Amino acid sequence: MNRFDLCIKHGEVVFPAGVQKLDVGVANGKIISLAKDLSGESTETIDATNRLVFPGFIDAHTHFGIPVPDIQSADDFTSGSIAAAFGGVTTIIDFTVQQPGQSLLDSFDSRLNEARGKSHIDFAFHVNITSQPEKWLQEISQLIRLGVRSFKLFFTYENMMVNERQFRLVMEKVAEQDGLVMLHAEDHRLVTIGIGKYVSAGKTAPIYHALSRPPETEALAVKKACRIARELDTPLYIVHLSSKAGLTEARRARDAGAKLFLETCPQYLLLTKEAYLKPNGHYYITTPPLREKEDCEALWGALANDEIDVVATDHCPFTRLQKNRGNGEFHKTPNGLPGVETLFPLLFTYGVQQERISIDQLSRLLVQNPAKIFHLSPDKGKIDIGADADLIIWNPAVDNKISIEKLHGNADWNPYQGKKSSGRLEYTVLCGHFLVKEGRFVGDTVKGKYAAGDRAD
Ligand code: URP
Ligand code: ZN
Ligand code: ZN
Repeated sequence: MNRFDLCIKHGEVVFPAGVQKLDVGVANGKIISLAKDLSGESTETIDATNRLVFPGFIDAHTHFGIPVPDIQSADDFTSGSIAAAFGGVTTIIDFTVQQPGQSLLDSFDSRLNEARGKSHIDFAFHVNITSQPEKWLQEISQLIRLGVRSFKLFFTYENMMVNERQFRLVMEKVAEQDGLVMLHAEDHRLVTIGIGKYVSAGKTAPIYHALSRPPETEALAVKKACRIARELDTPLYIVHLSSKAGLTEARRARDAGAKLFLETCPQYLLLTKEAYLKPNGHYYITTPPLREKEDCEALWGALANDEIDVVATDHCPFTRLQKNRGNGEFHKTPNGLPGVETLFPLLFTYGVQQERISIDQLSRLLVQNPAKIFHLSPDKGKIDIGADADLIIWNPAVDNKISIEKLHGNADWNPYQGKKSSGRLEYTVLCGHFLVKEGRFVGDTVKGKYAAGDRAD
């Protein structure tokens, strides 16, 4: 006779190729049965009639507790992971923080130690290379043995960026080891000219954040990086793609043979630079900046055509007090927005319900593709026998609104406040353990693990 720790019955289970009404049986943290009308004993049974059952979502781009000059982003691994659980996110891929002169291995160890014991969801890391790349190249193979798959480089930010020669060196070394380079694509020369032009004229209101970093800064960086990736025949992942111009360059590069992965974020699909004109416009400062409606539409189109591989959040929240530190001046305001808790509800409401993308596309963007690209499969990535029992039960038939009172992160404002959001999360399960049960957090004793640990030696 079957014995389950948890049995989810009569739900509409979301698979990469569509939805099927099936029961899901869980034991010892894994999915062990998928069938119609499962029979057997179960410690816990949930009736998921008229509910969607998703694999746990993966937010492949978060910044929990990162230092920006003399403050930290508002969510640490505890508060950020609770917010994530309420958004159905059961795995995050965050970033290491390399201090000037620090080795990559050291930066990885310290981030791993920050997350362990604090995070209630599973986690992995992209390794940021922001200081003396040449000196630490030999550590790349060691990091890959520790389960790291991806390394992020910047084409802008004084003291963090790489030049073209360094970019090539890292691309070659990472590709040799079957790793992946991720790029923050903004051209530093153009950004510096833009900021200098407005700041020197005393134009420091939030809207000048967008005007000083126009889409051409992204397009030029995408173009340069893709040319190098093509020459070296190495794959490249562009993070937080924000503009139609950037997308156009990425399409050209793919047509010319580049092996490109593209990521965008809800803020580039749903918000525009008009937000910078609001009285609290400086709260919306994030990099790359918000763009025009036309850019949002181009990115939605690329999602619909499967040209974008991943939607992630770039979750990097700051409180109102933190955002106010620069007196509203764009170049003094900490950059970043909250997002991890609203990722799925926003894509479900404005993507699936408004028929811009299908439910299986949504599940590919938030689960299968990040799991594959970042080598978290087969434990993560789909509802399948033997996979981790990371499961979300979603009631789609509830009208809701995004409201700061109902959110769980440490930011005390939200860029989507008051926006319609269809559906309600009822359960979040991580490796068979409840994090959210009937809409309440019950995961105090549940600790997430390093999700790439199985790959490590
Ligand atoms: O402004 C943002 N999004 N800060 C996070 C760092 C980054 O570049 O992704
Ligand atoms: Zn970035
Ligand atoms: Zn980021």
